[in-house]
Order: sequence, then C-alpha cells, then structure tokens
Amino acid sequence: MPFMVPDVVAAGALAQQEQPVIPVPGGMVLRPWSPDDAPAVYEAFQDPVIQRWHAREADSVDEARGWIDGWRKAWSDERDAHWAIADATTDAVVGRISLRLIVLADGQAEVAYWTMPSARGRGIAPRALTALTDWAFGELGLHRLELTHATANEASCRVALKTGFAPEGTKRSAVLHTDGWHDMHLHARVQEG
Ligand SMILES: CC(C)(COP(=O)(O)OP(=O)(O)OC[C@H]1O[C@@H](n2cnc3c(N)ncnc32)[C@H](O)[C@@H]1OP(=O)(O)O)[C@@H](O)C(=O)NCCC(=O)NCCS
Repeated sequence: MPFMVPDVVAAGALAQQEQPVIPVPGGMVLRPWSPDDAPAVYEAFQDPVIQRWHAREADSVDEARGWIDGWRKAWSDERDAHWAIADATTDAVVGRISLRLIVLADGQAEVAYWTMPSARGRGIAPRALTALTDWAFGELGLHRLELTHATANEASCRVALKTGFAPEGTKRSAVLHTDGWHDMHLHARVQEG
C-alpha cells in the first residue's frame, strides 16, 4: 500500500550536502562545531543557569570534546543538526543552536539554544533562531518547528515570543531534571504559504 502523501523533505537532504555556514545579522554566523571549541563548551556548562535547564553536565574539556564529536557526526544521520553561534570576526563561540528530533518526511523538527553568560541580553539567541528558522523553512523546506522550554524559564519564553514562535500550551510534567519534573511550554512556528 503506497503512502498517500509524499515526503515533505526527501531523505538525504541533509546528508548529501555539507553543513552550511549561515550568516546572522549583527556580525555572527552559525557554523559547524570544531574540536577546538571544547574549552568554550566546557566553560558554558559551568554556568548554573545552563545547568538548571539541561540534564547533562561536563566534567572536563575532554568530555565536552566528546559531545562535539557527536554533534559533528549527527549531521549525516539526519536526526539532529548542531551549530555554534560564533562571532564572524573572531570566530569565538557565543552560543549554540540546534535542530533536534528532525523528521524530514514529516517536515518537522525542534529547536534548542543557549548563549554564553557573557553574551546574554544582546538579542543573540533571537537573531540566531531567526536565521536558522529562515534556513530550515527556506533552503531545507521544513514545514513546522517546535520550541519547548520549562515554564519557569522566562528568558527562553521571551526568545520564543520575540521570534514568532506562538504559544500552543503546556506539556505537563514533561521533562525530568535533577530538581524533578518540569512543566514545559510548547511554542511553534509554521512555514507560511
Ligand atoms: C535563554 C537564552 C538563550 C537567551 O539568550 P539571549 O541571547 O540572552 O537572548 P535575549 O538577549 O533576547 O534575552 C532574552 C531574555 O533574557 C533576559 N535577559 C536580558 N539580559 C539578560 C542578561 N544579561 N542575563 C540573563 N538574562 C537576560 C530578558 O528577559 C530577555 O528578554 P527581553 O529582551 O524581553 O528583556 C539565554 O538566557 C540562555 O542561554 N539561558 C540558559 C540556557 C537556556 O535557558 N536555554 C534555553 C533552554 S529552553
């Protein structure tokens, strides 16, 4: 029995191209991760705010380098795609942004992000998210992107609202962290026409 609807995005759409560098207004780029970024990732994960909203912690620069290795390999599996948000001039890492739970056939994925503590409050996450969303809907052809954050994470909610990710409700007791189950706000953007 054939499928009655075609795949929204054909398998291979990611794996058959190099992971792109995506320009971000304000002198930044989204670029693939490098093993040399391990100290910056380790430093980011010493931040108590990042620790509060993530279920992992990095015990060493070597461990962070192992994560980066996984992020680099994920591209060809077409399940996740991870970019460093970097200063376009110095190449220094100022954050991370990802597409997760990619299902090309359904045209869907979830976005996730963090910024370095020293980079916060300058609109970096919203600009990076807008650039990634434009690429995902435009070049890649996805149809819907979801964004979830713990209901108590007001900064992340502001990023979602400022970038047009409309609120769609609350997923109750949806993610387990060290302090217990977090209720999660669900936001989403849908490709317009
Ligand atoms: C959420 C996060 C990515 C926002 O990144 P950002 O680049 O600072 O984004 P913005 O500059 O747009 O700031 C977003 C909100 O953070 C708050 N904020 C502003 N300055 C801040 C600062 N210096 N430090 C912390 N938060 C600040 C404000 O509420 C702001 O909203 P507003 O613009 O309406 O005032 C960042 O705070 C972060 O990495 N937090 C820890 C990890 C995390 O929560 N990731 C998301 C998990 S769902």
